[in-house]
Amino acid sequence: MSSEQIVLVIGASRGIGLALIQELGAKPNTKTIGTVRTPNPALDAPQNVKIIILDISDEESVAKAASEIPELDILIVNAGMGKRDPVTSTPTADLATYLNVNVLGPHRAIRAFLPALRARKMRRIVLMSSSSGSIGQQALPGSIGLAGSYGVSKAALNMLAVQTHNELQTEGFTVVPVHPGWVATDMGNIHGSGGMPPATSAKAIIQLVDGLTPEKSATFYRFDGEKMPW
Ligand SMILES: NC(=O)c1ccc[n+]([C@@H]2O[C@H](COP(=O)([O-])OP(=O)(O)OC[C@H]3O[C@@H](n4cnc5c(N)ncnc54)[C@H](OP(=O)(O)O)[C@@H]3O)[C@@H](O)[C@H]2O)c1
Repeated sequence: MSSEQIVLVIGASRGIGLALIQELGAKPNTKTIGTVRTPNPALDAPQNVKIIILDISDEESVAKAASEIPELDILIVNAGMGKRDPVTSTPTADLATYLNVNVLGPHRAIRAFLPALRARKMRRIVLMSSSSGSIGQQALPGSIGLAGSYGVSKAALNMLAVQTHNELQTEGFTVVPVHPGWVATDMGNIHGSGGMPPATSAKAIIQLVDGLTPEKSATFYRFDGEKMPW
């Protein structure tokens, strides 16, 4: 077994995911793999980062990607969709799409990459969540972030993290949902201007992930290491 850390970032075509593979690509002793849905020769990824195809909403696509990665230390599920879609005016079919991408997608990824994670000792799973998924924060007056249907999906994602932790705890897994902060990406800019640069969030998230231990599992973290309320 090599001493190199193998890290997979699902959803690395743009935004926070692209910033994550750019930061990880510059890290020593790290083999980084990023996923995109569509091949893009102009993707601004470091040369040492391997890019593979994965659509998290498609079971076969996730399985095919997993078949290309036999060993993995850290799984970062960053892919997600989000707009401002209030629950009371969103068709149920659209809420189902949110759940398919933001909850069932990470579930597909966790299950597919479990053998690769079990093949190594580190066993870290990071799910990109949101303050919109914090019931504690959303229940306060004045909603935070994109809220609505997106918030429902991210709250479910947080529970997926906790249940995954409960089931894998004895195997030494560390499973955490992380709120990346307000980041100036295609999604973050829906909320207005003023989000932080993607590189700032990505650097902090990598520092947080580096410091994870099994004792910290099932904690909802903000990018800067502060704890988020469930
Ligand atoms: N930006 C913020 O302020 C903020 C705040 C809280 C949480 N977050 C969370 O952080 C994560 C990244 O957000 P972002 O701001 O970087 O968003 P973004 O700029 O909209 O990028 C979304 C990423 O997810 C990928 N993706 C979407 N659907 C996918 C699918 N079915 N299969 C595979 N990949 C898919 C996109 O790929 P394509 O290019 O192929 O569409 C893209 O790489 C998301 O989970 C988001 O909910 C962001």
